[in-house]
Amino acid sequence: SVPHVSLCVSTPDFEKAAKAVLPNKSWVYASASANAGLSLKGNLEDWTRISFRPRILRDVGSVDMRRSILGHSSKYPFYISPMGTMGALHPGAEPEMVRGGVRKGCHVVVSTASTKPNEEIMQSYIDAQQQINNASPSKLFFQYYMPVNRNKAIELIHRVKKAGYKGLWITVDTATLGKRTADRVLQAEEALAVGMAEQPTTDWEVGAENPDAPAMGGRSVDGFLTPHLNWQDLAWVKKEWGGPIVLKGVQCAEDAKLALEYGCQGILLSNHGGRQLQTAPSALMTLLEIRTYCPEVFGKMEIYLDGGLRDGSDVLKALCLGATAVGVGRPFLYALSAYGSKGVERCVDVLADELEIGMKLLGVTSLDQVRPEMVNAQRLLNE
Ligand code: FNR
Repeated sequence: SVPHVSLCVSTPDFEKAAKAVLPNKSWVYASASANAGLSLKGNLEDWTRISFRPRILRDVGSVDMRRSILGHSSKYPFYISPMGTMGALHPGAEPEMVRGGVRKGCHVVVSTASTKPNEEIMQSYIDAQQQINNASPSKLFFQYYMPVNRNKAIELIHRVKKAGYKGLWITVDTATLGKRTADRVLQAEEALAVGMAEQPTTDWEVGAENPDAPAMGGRSVDGFLTPHLNWQDLAWVKKEWGGPIVLKGVQCAEDAKLALEYGCQGILLSNHGGRQLQTAPSALMTLLEIRTYCPEVFGKMEIYLDGGLRDGSDVLKALCLGATAVGVGRPFLYALSAYGSKGVERCVDVLADELEIGMKLLGVTSLDQVRPEMVNAQRLLNE
């Protein structure tokens, strides 16, 4: 059993609760990172290494944290990141996550690797909206893993468009699945348990993040995660989709510039929650790099980031440095695992509360007022 959801006052509380309730295999899937975990560690630590430069005596009686995401007004400057296979974590799977987001007015990006078909997830959104007389500003966006087969790729785009998703977030940091160490250990243990591990395994089965087999049993990414994906492919994806595109997984200034040249409406600085390349840059480092080497992209493109944000004050730091909004992943996944949509709602409240307090103590009443000089990133920049 876990503490009552109201006792979750910070995001690590959801992690603790999830660990307590989840079967080991599901816990490993959600918490896994790549190789020795250095990218995940960097994601978490880098936020702690920049500090604020608060302003005082500025009358911060009430604050406004609204933002716009791809032209859709957002109640918060954060959204729920796309994560696959939620059915392994909560029986309500993605629809349950969406219900929490809708009730709180928080945008959600839905993964290609979802347990449920994207149409069913959209229906859960519509139903949740109807229950509250369509009062929620929450919108659904779609994260796209491009199928290798061109016809399937086009078919998926059209299904997503027809279902009514508001923007396509194309994941580009997954030319192949990262080395999910904990998943591999688990697989080796399972093999050992049934006496099958005389030979060391080299043909690694991939874990649960599998678009083709939504349940955790499936272990092939054949058909998805094409290593051949390249910049030229973007042009036809754009044409077929016809709406706004965000590139998810940009990790250096050169690619930020290229994304602008290729006509993307946004980029998402991300290393996939530390699940892909070992010692990938944290999104914060990439943001700082872009500030130095191609500051002109700010204002011409929306710039999102994700990875390791665990506190509303982390969100505020990202916004000071020019992020349009940020994605939060595991905290929502853990909240869902332990408490279903009630946990998701609580997680939104926890982050919004921390952000509101942070804004007041920083001396701003709206997010238009945040500036790079309100944070000190010297410790990160000097290394
Ligand atoms: C992910 N992420 C991810 N990204 C994506 O584009 N498609 C996907 O299907 C998934 N699946 C997925 C599953 C799980 C269990 C996790 C933890 C992450 C990455 C996700 O969108 C996001 O980039 C990170 O989770 C952000 O980092 P934090 O907030 O989890 O630290």
